[in-house]
Amino acid sequence: MEKIGIIGTGYVGLVTGVCLTQEGHGVIFNDHKKEMLANLKKGILPIHEKDLPELMKAGLKKGLIDVSTDKKYVADQSDILMFCVQTPSKEDGNADLSYLRQAVKEVAQSMKSPKILINKSTAPVGTARLIREIVRHFYNGQFDVVSVPEFLQEGKAVETFIHADRQVVGFEDDVSDEVKNRIVNLFKPFGKEIVVTNTKTAEFSKYVCNAFLALEISYINSMTGVSEKLGIDIQDISRIMRLDKRIGPKAFLEPGPGYGGMCFPKDVVSVVGIADRFGYTHKLLQVVNEINWRQRLNVAEKIHHFVQKIDKPKISILGLSFKKNTSDVRNSQSKTVIEELLKLGYKNIAVYDPLANDNFKQFNLPIEYKNSWSEAVDGSDCLVIMTEWDEFKQLDLDLVKKKMRTLNIVDSRNLLDKELAKKLGFNYMGMGRK
Ligand code: UDX
Repeated sequence: MEKIGIIGTGYVGLVTGVCLTQEGHGVIFNDHKKEMLANLKKGILPIHEKDLPELMKAGLKKGLIDVSTDKKYVADQSDILMFCVQTPSKEDGNADLSYLRQAVKEVAQSMKSPKILINKSTAPVGTARLIREIVRHFYNGQFDVVSVPEFLQEGKAVETFIHADRQVVGFEDDVSDEVKNRIVNLFKPFGKEIVVTNTKTAEFSKYVCNAFLALEISYINSMTGVSEKLGIDIQDISRIMRLDKRIGPKAFLEPGPGYGGMCFPKDVVSVVGIADRFGYTHKLLQVVNEINWRQRLNVAEKIHHFVQKIDKPKISILGLSFKKNTSDVRNSQSKTVIEELLKLGYKNIAVYDPLANDNFKQFNLPIEYKNSWSEAVDGSDCLVIMTEWDEFKQLDLDLVKKKMRTLNIVDSRNLLDKELAKKLGFNYMGMGRK
């Protein structure tokens, strides 16, 4: 069994580390957040992820989970070091590698014996080489750098890690068979297929996959306005498309308020930046990005359309996280929509999310937080569905009708039964359906 130091205990680090204990490997979580690490030891997790608490408890019980803020200790105790630190995009679209550089430097300064360094942080092509250069500067012995991009989806992170469609493992040219086998064996239990390739291919594959999925979303979103004008329900089109095996039943063709989260917005811009550095203007992905942000404004315009003539309207936003089953509000679509509404002068905005209310407060927006959808829609003039939570799918529209002042619904996830809503007397607007 391996002893693995996880450098950076965010979403990727935590999920990967905890899942690795399932196979009997020992992990040491490292981060600068002391309190968060102390909580981990008690089984208290900083994120909401299905199945993660149970796996965490099992790992703790077996004594497979340790924590430390000290990289020297982590480097001493581990044979494999896995970098899972953030790589946010800078103003110019390029990934900010300062956290990764610093983490690698600190580990390298503590290295006294051969180690395998795995990069899991999403980082530009050439990052494995950069890691090699940094380590070489501080350490003269033998070490290997491996690139293993992460494809897990928040909200079902454990499932998408344990039953990944594939694990991609990128090695440098001179890697020994012994190291290759150890890393392949480490990830083999977690993928239907394991793709062994070089570091550059592994690094670029993550960007290209994510940009493609983002492209699918912007593609279907680009059709929503036209569908509304044509009187067509875009959901029917998505279904017809997904029945084509070349497109596939799981294609990202769910129309909505645009993609959010930590990966797609950042990765699309990063691919544009990478292409640009090699002299290719990636117009296609520039437009994918534009459509995405434009789609959020489309939601705000729909709300404005309904409430503009109402005196001091109350607007109720249901959903603040960027997708269901997570409390993550990074690049939250609701944030953009609320900011736009505030710009338009709307002051009475009530919000509710089953998990993300507290996280959203970091944006300091002048809005009212409610503890249930029912409180949020009380006396409202426009109900807005922003996140596709199951709880909202099952909204009791009869009760909603009794609570609201004016019967307007903007359903940015096409979650509700539009015919029923209309029958009950609601003015209804979805995305790509009227
Ligand atoms: C994504 C990738 O799927 C994952 O492989 C990668 O490692 C990290 O980025 P994640 O950001 O967790 O995962 O969520 P995902 O389920 O891919 O959704 C991203 C965004 O797209 C969400 O805001 C979601 O609501 C939106 N989306 C997704 C759509 O609007 N329509 C769709 O059809 C699918």
